[in-house]
Amino acid sequence: NLSTVKDSKGNITKYIDPGYLNTVSGHTRVSFVDGEQGILEYRGYSIKELAEKSTFIEVAYLLIYEDLPTIQQLEEFSKKIMNHSSLPIELRNIMSCFKNDAHPMGMFISAMSGLSTFHPEANPALAGQSCYDDPYKRDKHISNILGISPTISAAAYRHKNQKEFNNPRDGGYIENFFYMLHHEKGTDYQPHPVLVKALDVMFILHAEHGFSCSAAAVRHLASANTDVYNCIAGGAAALYGTLHGGANEAVLRMLMKIGSKANVPAFIEKVKNKEEKLMGFGHRMYKCYEIRPKIVKTIALKVFEVCGREELFDVALEIEQIALKDPYFIKRRLFPNIDLFSGVVYKAMGFPPEFCPVLFAMPRLVSWLAHWSEFLDDPNRKITRPQQVYTGHRNRKYVPQCDIK
Ligand code: ACO
Repeated sequence: NLSTVKDSKGNITKYIDPGYLNTVSGHTRVSFVDGEQGILEYRGYSIKELAEKSTFIEVAYLLIYEDLPTIQQLEEFSKKIMNHSSLPIELRNIMSCFKNDAHPMGMFISAMSGLSTFHPEANPALAGQSCYDDPYKRDKHISNILGISPTISAAAYRHKNQKEFNNPRDGGYIENFFYMLHHEKGTDYQPHPVLVKALDVMFILHAEHGFSCSAAAVRHLASANTDVYNCIAGGAAALYGTLHGGANEAVLRMLMKIGSKANVPAFIEKVKNKEEKLMGFGHRMYKCYEIRPKIVKTIALKVFEVCGREELFDVALEIEQIALKDPYFIKRRLFPNIDLFSGVVYKAMGFPPEFCPVLFAMPRLVSWLAHWSEFLDDPNRKITRPQQVYTGHRNRKYVPQCDIK
């Protein structure tokens, strides 16, 4: 379906590929995706097996460093991450100045970008073009970003609820995140182990997906030698969109608007008439029912045992049932994606809809770091600069339209 650009003699000089459906921008060893068969492997391991047997931090190590960690490597990695989890006071003050009803992703992206101002040693303009060549220095930034992301996210959550920020404490990555979200002075907050496990598995499922829109954005930024903090902020900005990681929030809002199972058929008709889009359905890569939404459904049931059944889950199930049998979706090979049920899980855990994209960004930044690091090591890397076909005016005569003197 590529349209072509021809020269005056009719020779094809360029192909136009909107959305890069057919354009490969590089090699990767981070994950394998086969959308026809629904296969997703992180560094060669099936996502199903990782979700069953691994932990998020182990998977983070695997994605970034290519192999599963030994117990000693895992301990060192976890320790380094925790050592970098404190929010600089100045950044804390900046976050306090956001409006309380600011979208948490706006706060997350701004804080990530703001972190760059504390790390001149990560800025190639100041520290030299080779400032990431030393693996030790590169690792420091990786630990820093992984360590501070739950602190920034929890601060955004607390700020929205007009509550004081909590400092991180020792313990597991997910436990500490829950603690920073919910701890109140004078209490001894302990997160529920079922919810900790559920969020850990959700994070594994969301940690990587090849050259996704956001990972491609990170690689794009890295190609210009942008510092790693702004690369990650840029990845988060791409993720924020409702067609990508913002879809979990959009699904929840859609489910709330539909309201009940009885209203689903009428909504589906609107989708087929192109008056609405069915959020949580369709994927650029998958042309079959992939495994991640199926695993999210099983996680939902475990979360409901602790938090109570979320009514919107039944609305989502009804959508799934109807759409999977409908010729509109069958013909276009549209299936549930990971976002159809993830927002419902997060809502059951007590998160508001607008926080759901943050819960996607936190694990996905592992992917961005892995791709950033891989991209830097690519001997064939070049600044990313797509070709264009200019269709605007040429050689216009300047006629002043207003008197600016
Ligand atoms: N609802 C209704 N129709 C859809 C949907 C949907 N969710 N997704 C695709 N279609 C239709 C399109 O309208 C188009 O129909 P047409 O042939 O009549 O014009 C056809 O299916 C092909 O769709 P494209 O937009 O060309 O597919 P593309 O691969 O470019 O888009 C995308 C993929 C963006 C994910 C799309 O399916 C979508 O918008 N889904 C809803 C948003 C969403 O859930 N995003 C999360 C994706 S997963 C992730 O990033 C985490």
